[in-house]
Amino acid sequence: MKTILAYYSNNGSNRYLAKKIADRINCEIEQIRPRLNIHLFLLFGINFGNKKLRHNLAEFDRVILCGPIWMGKFISPLRSFVKKYKSRINELIFVTCCGSGFEMKDKKFGHGLVFNEVKNILKDKCIHCEALPITLVVPEDKKEDPNVVMQTRLSDENFKGEIEEIFENFIKKVTIPD
Ligand SMILES: Cc1cc2nc3c(=O)[nH]c(=O)nc-3n(C[C@H](O)[C@H](O)[C@H](O)COP(=O)(O)O)c2cc1C
Repeated sequence: MKTILAYYSNNGSNRYLAKKIADRINCEIEQIRPRLNIHLFLLFGINFGNKKLRHNLAEFDRVILCGPIWMGKFISPLRSFVKKYKSRINELIFVTCCGSGFEMKDKKFGHGLVFNEVKNILKDKCIHCEALPITLVVPEDKKEDPNVVMQTRLSDENFKGEIEEIFENFIKKVTIPD
């Protein structure tokens, strides 16, 4: 299965995750680069599209899309990517290192709502969505502290325990055919 991983990351956690996935499954990787990469604009959905990709997505059986969630939204760089290339995408898997934990999944800013949005846009082409919440690497006594949660980034030092298990299961899911 010819796969490409496309990612967007503002603070580095989704870049870390994207590279880790691409390394493990040995696939091409492409950074999504907004034309105007100003976080505040992107946060409010003001986006002038993304720069041209180096790869032609139609040549791949599967796209793995990786990026954060902001304010309960499928963020504008990822949304622009999907809308522009929908017809060239054969199959898509969405994976996110987000702030919302599993218990928050279906609440207002939870990743579950974004997963529904991705599935709505891509219909049957979206075959799987996976969350690796950053809270999994935050120490137990700091999980309720929003400042600590917002400042934590994935790294080799903290990518251990439950998050690593979820990652390994995810890798199995994307490499072993159903
Ligand atoms: C302005 C802002 C809003 C955010 N809103 C949400 C949210 O609604 N839901 C969520 O799960 N995470 C939210 N997050 C957390 C990010 O998804 C999380 O920190 C992510 O790992 C950042 O990815 P990056 O390091 O690749 O940029 C938000 C982060 C920022 C900076």
